[in-house]
Amino acid sequence: MGTNNIVILAIESSCDETSAAVIVDGKVLNNIVATQSVHEKYGGVVPELASRAHQENLIPVVQEAIFSSGIKKADLSAIAFTRGPGLMGSLLVGVSFAKALAYARGIPLIEVNHMQAHILAHFIDEPKPAFPFICLTVSGGHTQLVLVEDHLTMKVIGETQDDAVGEAFDKTAKLLGLPYPGGPLIDRYAKEGNPKAFSFPITRMPDLNYSFSGIKTAVLYFLRDELKSNPNFITENLADLCASIQYSLIEMLLIKLKLAVKEHKVKNVAIAGGVSANSGLRETLGKLAKEKGWNLYIPKFEYCTDNAAMIAMAAHYKFLKGEFSNYEVSPLAKMKL
Ligand code: KG4
Ligand code: ZN
Repeated sequence: MGTNNIVILAIESSCDETSAAVIVDGKVLNNIVATQSVHEKYGGVVPELASRAHQENLIPVVQEAIFSSGIKKADLSAIAFTRGPGLMGSLLVGVSFAKALAYARGIPLIEVNHMQAHILAHFIDEPKPAFPFICLTVSGGHTQLVLVEDHLTMKVIGETQDDAVGEAFDKTAKLLGLPYPGGPLIDRYAKEGNPKAFSFPITRMPDLNYSFSGIKTAVLYFLRDELKSNPNFITENLADLCASIQYSLIEMLLIKLKLAVKEHKVKNVAIAGGVSANSGLRETLGKLAKEKGWNLYIPKFEYCTDNAAMIAMAAHYKFLKGEFSNYEVSPLAKMKL
């Protein structure tokens, strides 16, 4: 590795995945992810357990990223990390490690906004979206419509006023008795079900904003009433329930996406974040894009959910602009885009 190469080690630890990746001159070499299964039995992420698991997993994950990329620590030009948004204890593990390593090696530190990184995951592989584009960022913690003007110039034009759509997937899945995270399971059962079997509300908020808390309550009361007359209602109708819940969630997402595209007169559309792995959303959006003549960008599955490759990609652009942090930087649980 020559001294002119830009070699960055990136670390992601905002929620329940511990991840590290190495990027050389804008090319991601690997993406090591350790998923924490400890949360499954609690039906959601337990912050204290997440921080402990990060503490345990981080060094092996970083070692694996360095080893499998073939670089040496001495080749590193900078260390990147997720500063926020995320769980404070989880972020602290990654931030402290990144600070210590950068300080010890005397190299720059690059802080990355997790939500910006989800969007920049689109620049890991071809085809890369053309600017400007609208990105629907859908994760377990956020639901945002973002106008992306440049790699590092982004504006939130709409967002959820309560739950994130991933949370709506996971919480309704929990009501159906499915383990955490329920989003991928709803996706799987929905494939066999009828999306029109049951009708769940489609909440319409003003402007380009979203609300996903209503559907959770609607599903709760609906199930409570049905279970009174048939205790096997959920098991007998699981696929149809999943398909119908997923249908409403996708409808809500796409109504505002269509409006955003119209209002901002763009033709380039992307999706990002964990929920962009949803096959129903990918399929419906694919059809919609064809019908509307949009250029649609959908990330590879491995770059939808939390990963350090996206942090590395964001860090590369920040490195090129000389956007470095000082060694006193601290995590921000509620970091704005
Ligand atoms: O982006 P992400 O990995 O973490 C956050 O930053 O939140 O997103 C995780 C979310 C979870 O709510 C999970 O249930 C959801 O993404 N998710 C899915 C699918 N895969 C992941 N939701 C629906 N269908 C999927 N296939
Ligand atoms: Zn995320």
